[in-house]
Amino acid sequence: MTLEEAKKRIAELSQILEDANYSYYVLAESNITDQEFDSYLRELEDLEKEFPLLAKSNSPTKRVGGLVIDKFSKIKHQIPMLSLPDVFNEEEIKAFDERIRKSGYNPTYVCELKIDGVSGSFHYEDGNLITGATRGDGITGEDITHNVRTIKSLPLKLKKKISIEVRGEIYMAKETLAKLNRERELNGEGILQNPRNATAGSIRQLDSSVAAKRNLDTWIYHLPNPLDYGIKTQYESLEFMKSLGFKVNPCNRLVKNISEILSYIHEYNEKRESLPYDIDGVVIKVNDLNMQQSLGFTSKYPRWAVAYKFPALEVLTKLKDIVFTVGRTGRITPNAVLDPVLVMGSTIRRASLHNEDYVREKDLRIGDVVSIRKAGDVIPEVVEAKLERRNGSERPFKMIENCPICGSKLSKKEGQVDHYCFNPLCPAKHIEGLIHYVSRHAMNIDGFGEKIMEDFFNLGFIRKIPDIYHLEKHRKDLIELEGFGNKSVDNLLEAITISKSNSLERLLFGLGIGGIGDKTALLLAKTYKTIDELASKSVLELQEKKDIGPILANNIYEYFQNEENQKLIEELKELGINMTYTGEEEVENDLLNEKKFVVTGTISFMGRDEIERILEKYGAHSSSSVSSKTDFVIVGDNPGSKYQKAIDLKIDIWDEEKLRSILEELKEI
Ligand code: IVH
Repeated sequence: MTLEEAKKRIAELSQILEDANYSYYVLAESNITDQEFDSYLRELEDLEKEFPLLAKSNSPTKRVGGLVIDKFSKIKHQIPMLSLPDVFNEEEIKAFDERIRKSGYNPTYVCELKIDGVSGSFHYEDGNLITGATRGDGITGEDITHNVRTIKSLPLKLKKKISIEVRGEIYMAKETLAKLNRERELNGEGILQNPRNATAGSIRQLDSSVAAKRNLDTWIYHLPNPLDYGIKTQYESLEFMKSLGFKVNPCNRLVKNISEILSYIHEYNEKRESLPYDIDGVVIKVNDLNMQQSLGFTSKYPRWAVAYKFPALEVLTKLKDIVFTVGRTGRITPNAVLDPVLVMGSTIRRASLHNEDYVREKDLRIGDVVSIRKAGDVIPEVVEAKLERRNGSERPFKMIENCPICGSKLSKKEGQVDHYCFNPLCPAKHIEGLIHYVSRHAMNIDGFGEKIMEDFFNLGFIRKIPDIYHLEKHRKDLIELEGFGNKSVDNLLEAITISKSNSLERLLFGLGIGGIGDKTALLLAKTYKTIDELASKSVLELQEKKDIGPILANNIYEYFQNEENQKLIEELKELGINMTYTGEEEVENDLLNEKKFVVTGTISFMGRDEIERILEKYGAHSSSSVSSKTDFVIVGDNPGSKYQKAIDLKIDIWDEEKLRSILEELKEI
């Protein structure tokens, strides 16, 4: 075969295979048999092997995967990928509609199913798929092109030779997930809790043949640059994307008013169980794109669309036991121990019963059949006992009288319903210190909320700081815990390991030495560089530093003189915790050095703490109130009165754009 002939045949075969893919995966009808498909594919593979220069990156042979990357690169979204504000009931939908009408419009809407997957952005040039990216933080996402190419319903080549970006949801069908989980169970691997997690895990694989095996799918629903194609409404853009070969959901519907919106919601709430993929609500979008444009955006969301979330599902299970835990304040909580049930994709084993009165009002008895409710990511709750299911074997609830940790007599605070252990020496008091130790400004161990630490304490896994570093021993038990899968346990253990090399100031703050806030901890770490150096200083020496007064100096000195504390530090050293200052040195910058600034309102692309941390690195100082001494005020969405004050005092105001350009210049984003 000549090169010319091969080129022609490769083009022919690619076309046949892509048409077959389109018919099967987008239109759900097949135009050729599996055998025919396989034989064309094999012929194409052979030709590409023989003429490697003719093998295109968009060849249908790439759909089976095989490309392995060593890390994910970042892709900056030309237009930010925003999410939508949630609404939960009729009133909130009406309020949304009224807000738009108040702006002088008479809108029609498009109702779309809210697919429970992971959103993606797909770029085409001259009709060829070039990149696929995740949403990431909305500003930059991860390049997942190698995996996206394996999604059969996503065209590698469009029906027109145009350049375009489309966005939509990558998802895993219910059946695919069930099959995958059956295989995982056989292989002794953990179960993937819901299609969203399964999808996210699949598209974040470095090896595209893994993603290829997961049979991911797409629904395309958003065209970020409609005006470039002369499109005037959302509904037209859906039609347009469909005509290019994308899989566009047939349930999308143009509606004229609230009552049509409500009947759409009602219809799909009923149909939801029978759909082959998971949906968690309905997205309502203003149809007219001009109207959309003039309604604009808040810093986080478009003003022209909302996501209605379906109400929680209820399921029945058995209340096996009620166990008591102690919180960081000594508060006692009864907890329902349940026969594990799957509610909306996650297995529920436990639910808080809050306090004695709560259990009595619901008249919960051990052995009862109870209904459980869980909405989205919200904490599960026990709704009620099914009285008609009682058979007399149920045991009445009995409140405990003594602390389950130290045995002291429990009592209530005046006029309150909760029981407390008031023993100041109760080991449960350590929970507070432990929570502080792992918190964001201290050792910053991701995945350790307050609740988790309370649970670990009550289970006896963590009773003192060094236990955190032995958590590995309880790996098996942890995986069993509510909300903890294999992956989150791995993440937590990894976060613990990573935190060992934190710079000294985090440890100093985390130890909870009286009077040492995060700023003082940083000052001490920068000054003395190692914990041993700091521990060797006398009260007078410590006071030499301008911000350290006599009380603080004394606290520090006493802390390091205490034998228990010395033992703790030795133990932590042995566990490999870094005790040296390795933080960033301040960088000279004229614009920021010694400048006082205030942040007010929400900045869409970065948290306030992060902004402060970065600017402080360049010598600026954050403060919480605006005065004539303030040099500049950073203003985000919904700013407070500080914004007005800054205007009144004629202080330099930085909006999001300005902040972003400065951070970009500093190469911080
Ligand atoms: S529109 C600016 N339409 O829900 C418009 N989103 O909270 C952006 N989603 O991040 C999104 N189905 O991942 C849109 N038909 C649909 C959707 C949908 C699912 C997801 C998407 C988005 C989140 C919104």
